[in-house]
Amino acid sequence: MTSNQKVAVVTGTSSGVGHETSLALARSGFRTYATMRNLNKSENIKSVATKENLPIHINQLDVTDDISIKNAVQAILSEVGRIDVLVNNAGYALNGAFEDLTTDEIKAQFETNLFGVIRTTQAILPIMRKQEFGIIVNMSSGAGRLGYPGGSAYVSTKFAVEGLSESMAYELEPFGIKVVLVEPGVIRTNFANAMVVAKKSQDPNSPYSQIMQKMATSFEHMMENGSSPDLVAKVVLKAVTSENPSLRYLAGKDIETWMEGKRNKSDEEFYKMMKQNLIK
Ligand SMILES: NC(=O)c1ccc[n+]([C@@H]2O[C@H](COP(=O)([O-])OP(=O)(O)OC[C@H]3O[C@@H](n4cnc5c(N)ncnc54)[C@H](OP(=O)(O)O)[C@@H]3O)[C@@H](O)[C@H]2O)c1
Repeated sequence: MTSNQKVAVVTGTSSGVGHETSLALARSGFRTYATMRNLNKSENIKSVATKENLPIHINQLDVTDDISIKNAVQAILSEVGRIDVLVNNAGYALNGAFEDLTTDEIKAQFETNLFGVIRTTQAILPIMRKQEFGIIVNMSSGAGRLGYPGGSAYVSTKFAVEGLSESMAYELEPFGIKVVLVEPGVIRTNFANAMVVAKKSQDPNSPYSQIMQKMATSFEHMMENGSSPDLVAKVVLKAVTSENPSLRYLAGKDIETWMEGKRNKSDEEFYKMMKQNLIK
């Protein structure tokens, strides 16, 4: 490790945004700890790292498991003694109309998307505070700014990540630590495959099956036109290499358009527009 080389830790790097973000950070010189819960999925990133001679190190880290987080952070700390950037990226979506969701399904969604961010950040924060420097990037979503049918659980985790981050930003600034929210639109990753469809939502007799079907069709269409994960990686890189990173970064033309709509319309007008686009 060179003396002024920055150290980055990324969660959920087996595919998609986390994978591309780790590569982008390493390509710009960050010593990058690409963490994942299942090391059997590390071949892909390892082979790119070897081919390009990138400073990427793979560690096991499951964001729902305190011990796994502790072990990963300790291993990194004993190797390099600092962590400059944390990208809380690991996540998945639970899909289903609210009434069709069980409390356990919702809790599992929060365990990963919200408590995963909380656990990992709390494990790394003391290190950043001591070194009086750090950037925490929380992978939110357009779903952290607007709701949609079938998304109540996922959307509420991302709204929570937004509130958490915005509040933390005030507390951490005096210690030289910045908090950044990245809000991607629809991105072509393994996200749709990994999506968990609530059990009751799979029943064709669910009173919500029609609205869910319409939403599925819209989502498929949006995925076809989705952005590449590389675009999100570039946004993360821009944020963490900026002198003074902003609190929020949108990632994708689609979310830019939605957010413009949200800014310029009343709640009622925006609701109508969303309805027409998503479940017409
Ligand atoms: N794709 C989109 O349209 C989109 C839009 C906005 C925001 N996002 C956000 O972007 C982030 C990355 O998603 P993606 O699109 O890149 O999807 P993805 O390709 O499915 O990647 C998700 C990553 O999270 C990991 N993960 C899930 N649960 C985990 C856990 N308990 N501990 C550690 N890692 C875990 C997955 O690991 P496994 O391979 O082991 O499952 C995978 O590496 C998520 O936070 C997602 O909410 C995605």
